[in-house]
Amino acid sequence: MAFATDLKAAPFSPFVTMCVSTEGAEKRFNPARDLPPPKAGLHLFVCGPSSLMDAVAEGAKALGYASANIHREDFGADVDLTGDSFEVEARRSGKTVLVQSGQSIIDALSAAGIAVNVSCEEGVCGTCLTDILYGEADHRDQYLTDEEKAEGDLILLCCSRAKSPKLVLDI
Ligand code: FES
Repeated sequence: MAFATDLKAAPFSPFVTMCVSTEGAEKRFNPARDLPPPKAGLHLFVCGPSSLMDAVAEGAKALGYASANIHREDFGADVDLTGDSFEVEARRSGKTVLVQSGQSIIDALSAAGIAVNVSCEEGVCGTCLTDILYGEADHRDQYLTDEEKAEGDLILLCCSRAKSPKLVLDI
């Protein structure tokens, strides 16, 4: 609501819909009523409190949106770095580090002088997204879709760990 005036004056204002629950229950956002029907190439991006995002994502899925086309950005997320230690080989940097329980891959790489772009450090923004060349990730982020996690080619270095004893990364 802090940007309501700017949004109403913006050149794209015809495409802006504001749902203000204090203006009445009928003004509350209703995914079944307010989302466009799904179609190829149409993606839904949602951010806000978890309960809101859950409701929008569930509503979108009920309308037929593929989960790969639903993207969410949490305002905050708990990061669980517990688990066994594992090795990470940074292939392009030519270094291998040991990631201890309670330590992030980013922190282990940083201690070896390997810099990684990082922002949220909570697995929600995608800034630290990195290609996996070998090994199996233990995905703990909220950024990748279920399908992307299953493909196993990508990992978020700020929060995810390894299921295999070693990961080889394209970094
Ligand atoms: Fe945001 Fe890793 S820094 S997902």
